[in-house]
Amino acid sequence: METIQSQVDELITQMTPAEKAGQLTQYFYFRLPAGAEPALDFDAEEQPRMVESALREGVAGSLLFVTDPAEINRLQRLAVDGNRLGIPVLFGFDVIHGLRTILPVPIAMAASWDPQTIERGQSVAAREARAVGIHWTFAPMVDIARDPRWGRIIEGAGEDPYLGAAVAVAQVRGFQGGELGAPESIIAGPKHFAGYGGALGGRDYDEVNLSDSELWNVYFPPFKAAVEAGAGNVMTAYMDLNGIPAAGSRWLFTEVLRDTWGFKGFVVSDANVVRSLVTHGFAADLIDAAARAVNAGVDMEMAVADPAYAHLPEALESGVASEQAVDASVRRVLEAKVRMGLFEAPYIDEDLAREVLADPAHREVARVAAQRSAVLLRNEGGLLPLDGGGLRSIAVIGPLADSKRDILGPWVFDYDLDETVSVVEGIRARAGEGVRVDHARGVPVVQRVFPSLFNMFGWNKPEDPEGFEQEAEFQQAVDLARGADVVVVVVGEWQNMIGEAASRSSLELPGRQRELLQAVVGTGTPVVLLVMNGRPLDLRWPAEHVPAILDIWYPGTQGGAAAADLLFGDVSPGGKLPFTWPRTVGQVPMVYAHTRSHEPENQERRYWDEDSTPLFPFGYGLSYGRFEYANLTVEQPVITTGGTVTVSVEVTNTGDREADEVVQLYLHQRFGSASRPVRELKGFRRVTLAAGESRVVELPVGPNERRYWNAAVRDWVIDSSIFDVWVGGDSTAQLSTRFEVTKE
Ligand code: BGC
Repeated sequence: METIQSQVDELITQMTPAEKAGQLTQYFYFRLPAGAEPALDFDAEEQPRMVESALREGVAGSLLFVTDPAEINRLQRLAVDGNRLGIPVLFGFDVIHGLRTILPVPIAMAASWDPQTIERGQSVAAREARAVGIHWTFAPMVDIARDPRWGRIIEGAGEDPYLGAAVAVAQVRGFQGGELGAPESIIAGPKHFAGYGGALGGRDYDEVNLSDSELWNVYFPPFKAAVEAGAGNVMTAYMDLNGIPAAGSRWLFTEVLRDTWGFKGFVVSDANVVRSLVTHGFAADLIDAAARAVNAGVDMEMAVADPAYAHLPEALESGVASEQAVDASVRRVLEAKVRMGLFEAPYIDEDLAREVLADPAHREVARVAAQRSAVLLRNEGGLLPLDGGGLRSIAVIGPLADSKRDILGPWVFDYDLDETVSVVEGIRARAGEGVRVDHARGVPVVQRVFPSLFNMFGWNKPEDPEGFEQEAEFQQAVDLARGADVVVVVVGEWQNMIGEAASRSSLELPGRQRELLQAVVGTGTPVVLLVMNGRPLDLRWPAEHVPAILDIWYPGTQGGAAAADLLFGDVSPGGKLPFTWPRTVGQVPMVYAHTRSHEPENQERRYWDEDSTPLFPFGYGLSYGRFEYANLTVEQPVITTGGTVTVSVEVTNTGDREADEVVQLYLHQRFGSASRPVRELKGFRRVTLAAGESRVVELPVGPNERRYWNAAVRDWVIDSSIFDVWVGGDSTAQLSTRFEVTKE
């Protein structure tokens, strides 16, 4: 540590203000496909030239969006040779759910409720990224999302802080390995600090207003957990939080993150967000914007062009930016470079990169992750698993069923479509020679190509609905369904309909997919519905009329193979919903952990025109087993505020197949110095039980599980009270007990 510090201090003393500002600047380096229209305001031809000259002049500290190993070496050489002090650049990228081997999207991985699977998945992503020369990922996204209209719900772990914290920790460990700089690992950057998921109306980038209680109890815990797990970086959010643009908030980046949680890494702004301090009507000009961000504790600015931090020398000169703050930021950035071994080994071995990317073990990890993420929402009459022996024909219907690009989900760029398995291909391979598998799209997935932020990377564009013979294809799909023994219908959103800048005002299945589904169900052939999504969609009709519904999310490179494994019962689905699934968009936001208020039993006083319960509750998911819970006990019925109780329960698989269950523990404080949610998740464990097997699962509930931030005293408290405990397979679990907490 001491040697790192002296190496860094030595460099800082030699640096000019412009060189310091350069170390604090991160540039996108875009090479768009020929003829592509940039979705952001920049000159696509000039931008790479400008960045290269910044590298040569030693005024660029980091680049993002380069993933080709040869390009990384070339650009690194420009920096090291050009820069007077020989300081290498740090390469960052959005390695969100895989680089070449694509894992299920993050919300899906959260649905596995399996930290080990998540950690293993992100360690594969890190291994691939590091091999090509990437040092740092802008992940995990740990924003709590309680409004599914917000497209970025897909990037996080859903609505719950406890699950969110567990998933955040698993991801940081997966990316970073044992410690920062470990071999085959990269820096993790939890984002977007803070509150981004609370965007008004679910509209991306819109303002967020959250009470202190919501911030400390709900939105902050996954960040705090990620910091405690050693995350080396944190990214700011885009929007105003309670009237202050997040990237200009000293409270967030200095008081909370560093002073309260002891964060030692560096902070990066979200894209162009320091410049946006002017757009927000907060900073007067770019000099002021740069000063406010750096003084707040935002170490590095991410920019496409014309960074505000290029004005830091002027801001220092006039005294609006603190020299101490700038030096502290430079120190943090250089420390990260030293720790990542950049000074000793700035270049990468391109042959080794090819070898690592081709490792078949990575595909296996992705397949298991996809199996474990799927959530079985309905299975009437035991339609699933399919009877492989008795089937002669399967019709696979829907516009997403054979789409290799969509099955990968958003936020991926370096995938390999040749090694991607679509649902149709997965079913064909598993069903074997004797079974006929036919496919028809039926309808186009989009009726209109909307201007997605990601269209500029030409290869992400959806098929244009024009030219799709709608009536003929629709009829062909229905005919195939009529003639088959079973139909698998795949519906959902085209992958760019969800994600950044892809919020919706409706949760309906896009286009004519519901109509197609209704026509297929109308043939009378049994239907299994696979849903490809990253947010809850309006499934009220299918939830009544389609016997089997399996949510496979966007399951990644091996998604089609994993879907077939699940459909044919080679493995049982065992995932659980990481969010409350509303019936209709009019119910959102809807969370299970709301507080108990006036006339809680009178649900019709909530909405008179719609039920006030969700379609599927938080934590819900079926399997091919059947689980019963019994003998719920608390070993210590009375404890004092600092004490811990051990809750134990016996879980039995009374079904006739091996299956997984996620045992969930929910807690409610009956009275105290503030009112607390009706239930809150405070423990869980995913277990595998053979047919007929019983297991006793123990879950501790300690002071951390009962501690909360209290608006009355503006501090953390642990109340003495009576606590109800429920344990079961989802957030409506009925089996309950209680314990009492008395004063110390
Ligand atoms: C997103 C970030 C992302 C960054 C770099 C921004 O628009 O909000 O999550 O890491 O772009 O791609």
